[in-house]
Amino acid sequence: MSERANFGSRLGVILATAGSAVGLGNVWRFPYMAGQNGGAAFIVIYLFCVLMLGIPCMVSEFIIGRNAQANTARAYAHASGGNKFWTAVGAMGVITGFLITSYYAVISGWCLQYIYASGVGELKGDASYVKEYFNNFMTDPVLPLFWTVVFFAATHFIITRGVRGGIEKASKLLMPLLFVLLLVIVGASCMLPGAGKGIEFMLLPDFSKVDGNVCLGALGQSFYSLSIGMGCLCTYASYFSRETTLLKSAVQISLIDTLVAILAGLMIFPAAFSAGIEADAGPSLIFITLPTVFQQAFASMPFIGNIVALMFYALLALAALTSLISLHEVSTAFFHEELHIRRRWAATIVSVGCGIIGCCCSLSLGAWDGLQFFGMPLFDFFDYVTGQIFLPVGGFLTCLFIAWRMDRQVVRDQFTNWGTVSLGFYNVYLLLMKFVCPLAILAIFLHQMGVF
Ligand code: TRP
Repeated sequence: MSERANFGSRLGVILATAGSAVGLGNVWRFPYMAGQNGGAAFIVIYLFCVLMLGIPCMVSEFIIGRNAQANTARAYAHASGGNKFWTAVGAMGVITGFLITSYYAVISGWCLQYIYASGVGELKGDASYVKEYFNNFMTDPVLPLFWTVVFFAATHFIITRGVRGGIEKASKLLMPLLFVLLLVIVGASCMLPGAGKGIEFMLLPDFSKVDGNVCLGALGQSFYSLSIGMGCLCTYASYFSRETTLLKSAVQISLIDTLVAILAGLMIFPAAFSAGIEADAGPSLIFITLPTVFQQAFASMPFIGNIVALMFYALLALAALTSLISLHEVSTAFFHEELHIRRRWAATIVSVGCGIIGCCCSLSLGAWDGLQFFGMPLFDFFDYVTGQIFLPVGGFLTCLFIAWRMDRQVVRDQFTNWGTVSLGFYNVYLLLMKFVCPLAILAIFLHQMGVF
């Protein structure tokens, strides 16, 4: 146990884990979900989900991970006394991680292309031009693959430097940078004429539009955004020290994650409203709508518009990088510890394996459009099975595991750092784990499967 890597400082723990949480989910997914689901009302429900479900589930993954000091599969095996079913649950996290890593890198690669395109001014033109630009790029047989590989190379480079020298160091540099960039763009966006309407859209809730779908969307978004449901936090927690207070860390990380999501909204909606563009464009919001928004919003100062666009995509790429590192680490730790091979080789297996699958995902959107499963291109299929099936099932089983299977004393020791911090909220936490969280997750899951 003494030779196992760990994060060197409290700040490192917070920034690395927040780096995992803050990603495409905050800057790409959150604004389009909020835009499609009525703005402020969605955000209020989202905040409620983070508080009542997200934070407790995060603490649970921390408990399992830090208790075992091992990769996800072994962590579940360890705490269940080698039970086959629970070991398989842990292993499912590794498989989910492998699949998400593959397609997440493809979207991250798109950001790199957009950094380039904003830099050389290729994104100039009306909305239909940008749409065509995006579609041509996405379906190109070579360019997206190139960027995916570049993104994997960067991730691989950091992962092979290890936990402290790679992940922690990169997060300490990238996270503050991201925050500064975000504030600059929010400032630029909120100063545009007519930006007030966008701010209103985000801050004045109109609950008349809320239905079951909106609630379930908010719940799913909170899990995705906080990296819950596949042992990602469990793996990171295995690098926490005995002094890390789990509840406090979970609260801090969730605060940072939520703050970034809100800021991402404040960056996009004021600019969109100022340019007279609807906020409910869906997943293409960032790659099709936003470039047009930047151009129109900064029509009188196109140079500034270019710089803001470039900064925006750079920010998105950085956020995606720290999240991809965490996804990659789940499988890297698994191969490293289970196959007893060097970390470098484990990382290589993951980078090459996920790189190949990622390229297939990317090709399934264009050149190889026959590569379909259940009527969906491979890319959409992976997004669907991981996000809608594996994550909710993983989260659900984790709650049950903590509440009904794991040794209660171990849970309590982890929660209170062996009695050195107060028991405050412990009973509330147990109650949430036993009933509230599993039932709520079951509800989204059944809903998404179309049961009701
Ligand atoms: N939370 C990250 C984001 O917001 C994505 C992510 C990283 C993730 N690790 C995860 C999502 C594990 C689900 C599970 O972009």
